[in-house]
Amino acid sequence: MKTKVYYLEDKNINTEALDEAAAVIRQGGTVIFPTETVYGLGANALDEKSVSRIFEAKGRPSDNPLIVHISNYDMLLYCIGEPLSEKAQKLMAFFWPGPLTIIFKKSKAIPNEVTAGLDTVAIRMPDDSIALSLIQKSGVPIAAPSANISGKPSPTAPEHVITDMDSRVDVILCTKSTRVGLESTVIDISGEIPIVLRPGGVTLEELRKVLGEVEVDKGLEPGSVPKSPGMKYTHYAPKAPMTIVRGNEAKVRDKILELAGKHRDKGSKVGILTVDENKENYTGYDVISIGSREDSAQAAHNLFDALREFDKLMVDIIYAEAISEEYLGLAVMNRMKKAAGFNIIEV
Ligand code: TXA
Ligand code: MG
Repeated sequence: MKTKVYYLEDKNINTEALDEAAAVIRQGGTVIFPTETVYGLGANALDEKSVSRIFEAKGRPSDNPLIVHISNYDMLLYCIGEPLSEKAQKLMAFFWPGPLTIIFKKSKAIPNEVTAGLDTVAIRMPDDSIALSLIQKSGVPIAAPSANISGKPSPTAPEHVITDMDSRVDVILCTKSTRVGLESTVIDISGEIPIVLRPGGVTLEELRKVLGEVEVDKGLEPGSVPKSPGMKYTHYAPKAPMTIVRGNEAKVRDKILELAGKHRDKGSKVGILTVDENKENYTGYDVISIGSREDSAQAAHNLFDALREFDKLMVDIIYAEAISEEYLGLAVMNRMKKAAGFNIIEV
């Protein structure tokens, strides 16, 4: 398949490329587009054949449902099969457009292929002018998972998208790297206490300010079944095996230096994922920092690129310092744990 790649300026969205991409969506094709979280791989959410092309392009298991992206509230009402609850209205008022995905009962307009047979549908309004304009011009809601090959870290920069998806989709719309850098928060508000099914760009602290009590799905930790089908897959994985070391900062440093030293002595190339404040501790290794320890937003922005960077460096093994799980740190650590296959050393 020949892929057309366009580079767009954020401010100048009224381009022929967008019109062409919108036409491709309407005709049943696939378009990769930027959002504020990660790049998405989109197709017409109302047409099962179009949606099947997404699964094909990603190599995604068909039991993993997709998020439907909308640009206005008429589209939302068309996709959902329930009246809007007070909680939903509050969330939409505070966080849309933005990195929050809300689970609703689905309407008949949404084919089973989108929801992997569930009677619910995940919906969000992205906070990106290119994404919103593409949806609006297409005139249909767009189903879109992250635009990576299944299992790889989600793409946050044009080069990630091109590496994974060139010749697998009809059109790629590129801009700069995505602002948030990891995916939206997925929330289920159907029960009395709202549950975060996937931590992401809207933090637990922000959600609690708006809704009061909010829980995180206990199924996200290993050994239990997550409520969100996609959360059960290994994911985000760099090619080299990764181990997280967590605990007292000095002990974490000593443990990583001990383990990394052993591997280096055996001739292995060791990658170390750390923060700016600690990177001097690991001279002599392939060190990547995800930014300051004090700034979880920076860590979120940098994590996926760092994981892909280790692939490029062709390291044999990776040790990663755990970061605090406050604010965006919760989502960062969720992705890091998955990337490490929950391989964590406590010190
Ligand atoms: O930021 C994002 O959310 C990005 C951009 C492109 O919008 N999209 C994204 O999609 O991360 P994807 O497919 O990689 O992740 C969708 C997640 C999966 O964990 C999936 O299981 C969950 O949302 N999901 C989708 N529909 C659901 C439903 N009806 N019930 C529970 N979880 C659902
Ligand atoms: Mg994904």
